[in-house]
Amino acid sequence: MLSTLLAAFWIMVPAYVPNPVAALCGGGTPIDFDKNYADGRRLLGEGKTYRGLICGVLAGIAVGALQIWLAGTYGWTFLPQHTAASIVLLSLGALLGDMGKSFIKRRLGKNRGDSWPIADQYDLVAGAFALMLVFDPSWLFSNITLPVLIVILILTPILHRAVNIIGYLCGVKKEPW
Ligand code: CTP
Ligand code: MG
Repeated sequence: MLSTLLAAFWIMVPAYVPNPVAALCGGGTPIDFDKNYADGRRLLGEGKTYRGLICGVLAGIAVGALQIWLAGTYGWTFLPQHTAASIVLLSLGALLGDMGKSFIKRRLGKNRGDSWPIADQYDLVAGAFALMLVFDPSWLFSNITLPVLIVILILTPILHRAVNIIGYLCGVKKEPW
């Protein structure tokens, strides 16, 4: 049980890092360049910026590289093994999932920052696993076993909520979700 929890967390670290880092250093040019969709609403909205995307993905890759180094140096063979591909796909996938969610949010008429339960918590998991499924399915299926998946689905909303409350209290995030 504890080893499954540890495995799930270790796998997801490169996907968990990009969102809070994007919130910390986001701003500037929006990814949609202020453009509207056919429905007259923003394509993605003011909350998705190039700076947030780039800093977030780079931070996820940096932390993932540290994980690979730690596991190699200290011989932590009991943990799932990250690869260059896995850390890039998890970090980039997390924020692509976040962007996909914002796109749908805008189509549903929700404004930037409005809460959308379930989607707000699982966008990063969906995005990270979708990208992994396309580009490295063998890593996905050998590491994301059913027990690990279940733990990820329980752990993610808890961590998401905790980190967002901390971000809100520190003034980094405008809303505590
Ligand atoms: N952020 C960013 N670029 C990204 C993702 C996030 O700059 N690609 C920053 C923005 O400042 C954003 C904050 O991180 O406001 C929090 O992210 P999130 O909660 O995902 O965005 P929201 O502002 O809530 O927008 P949305 O309703 O579209 O989810
Ligand atoms: Mg939000």
